[in-house]
Amino acid sequence: MPDYDAIILGGGAAGLFCAAVAGQRGRNVLVLERAEKVGKKILISGGGRCNFTNIGAGPANYISANTHFAKSALSRYTPRDFLALVEKHGIDWHEKTLGQLFCDGSARQIVDMLLAECAAGPGPVTIRCREDIEKVTQSATGFAVATPHDTVTAKAIVIATGGPSIPKMGASDFAYRIARQFGLKVVEPRPALVPLTLGGEDVLFRDLSGVAADVTASAGKARFAEAALFTHRGLSGPAILQASSYWRHGEAVRIDFAPGKKGSWLLAEKRTRPSATMRAVLREVLPQRLADVLADRLGVEGDLGNVPDRRLVAAEDRLRGWTFQPTGSEGFAKAEVTAGGISTAELSSRTMEARSVPGLFAIGEAVDVTGWLGGYNFQWAWASGRAAGEAV
Ligand code: FDA
Repeated sequence: MPDYDAIILGGGAAGLFCAAVAGQRGRNVLVLERAEKVGKKILISGGGRCNFTNIGAGPANYISANTHFAKSALSRYTPRDFLALVEKHGIDWHEKTLGQLFCDGSARQIVDMLLAECAAGPGPVTIRCREDIEKVTQSATGFAVATPHDTVTAKAIVIATGGPSIPKMGASDFAYRIARQFGLKVVEPRPALVPLTLGGEDVLFRDLSGVAADVTASAGKARFAEAALFTHRGLSGPAILQASSYWRHGEAVRIDFAPGKKGSWLLAEKRTRPSATMRAVLREVLPQRLADVLADRLGVEGDLGNVPDRRLVAAEDRLRGWTFQPTGSEGFAKAEVTAGGISTAELSSRTMEARSVPGLFAIGEAVDVTGWLGGYNFQWAWASGRAAGEAV
């Protein structure tokens, strides 16, 4: 007989929630975590207050080679379900913006809640930290996992070791190595929710480091209306982080610097205030330093009343679709999440079990499902963790 019903590799958001669900179904579960404590990313998330879900989370908020894959798990465990759990544990919360729910107190409360759920039984959930997994092998009765301390066996294995973003916190490509070992395909991982770097002509914008503005940023077909921030390396802020998940090397990022203004705004300004300058008009909608740089770049001199209409139309077009050509991103070192990962084509969308390897499951960020910024990634961790926890 194997030692456990399930061994969960990784004690992060997805792994802990999966362990709790399985334990509450009476399963005998072992969680193996490499770090000295579980839930390290939860603890630093949301500026220490953990943006634990987004009340509007749905399949459209996720990026995956198969955009339908996440539907099943997300619909069976919703943000309201997780919120009910948070409330059951007496954790006070608030909505910050755009459906993003945070703890009033600290992210520690979410980790404590997950540990309490793991301890709620009836199945025992054992958690072992400082366990660097050396080898996973398949046997007639299931799987064997070798750690520096011993070898443990289970009927099922759940890969919940996340993606390689923020390696200095111990993140690695371990999930992909195990998946490939069992013949599962991996969609090329890339940094997501990551600042973008500027060079060439755009390098002048780096002088604006620290300036933020409400914009609409687009990459590919995705558009996000939030704040953008100029940094000493390029572009950041929520709108850019969101767009970065859709951005591919060599492509442009477009910014609308006047998202709140109706069409033909500059022509209307010319008619009503012919003696205003471009610089003055831009300073009314944007921070002064940014307004000045944009006005210089547009090269529209003098009173608007003396500028031909066609020049104002062209200037407005440029302001509404300012094209940046990022030279790259700040990489996994600064990426909040990893896009790509274990191919959803290999997994059952209902249970997260590998179709070709019965008993092998993958959940959370390790899988090729990546959420937007704003609590969506934790919601995927909970929903996918639950799907597997119900099945192991
Ligand atoms: P997660 O990374 O949480 O857990 C994986 C675990 O596996 C880790 O504990 C790791 O140590 C362990 N592990 C790795 N390799 C191992 C090995 N070989 N053996 C054993 N264990 C191993 N999302 C969100 O929705 N709201 C938010 O507020 C934030 N905020 C945020 C801030 C910052 C700074 C970052 C970096 C990320 C976020 N995120 C977020 C994203 C969110 O943290 C992330 O999507 C989830 O933690 C993913 O959960 P997983 O359980 O899949 O991986």
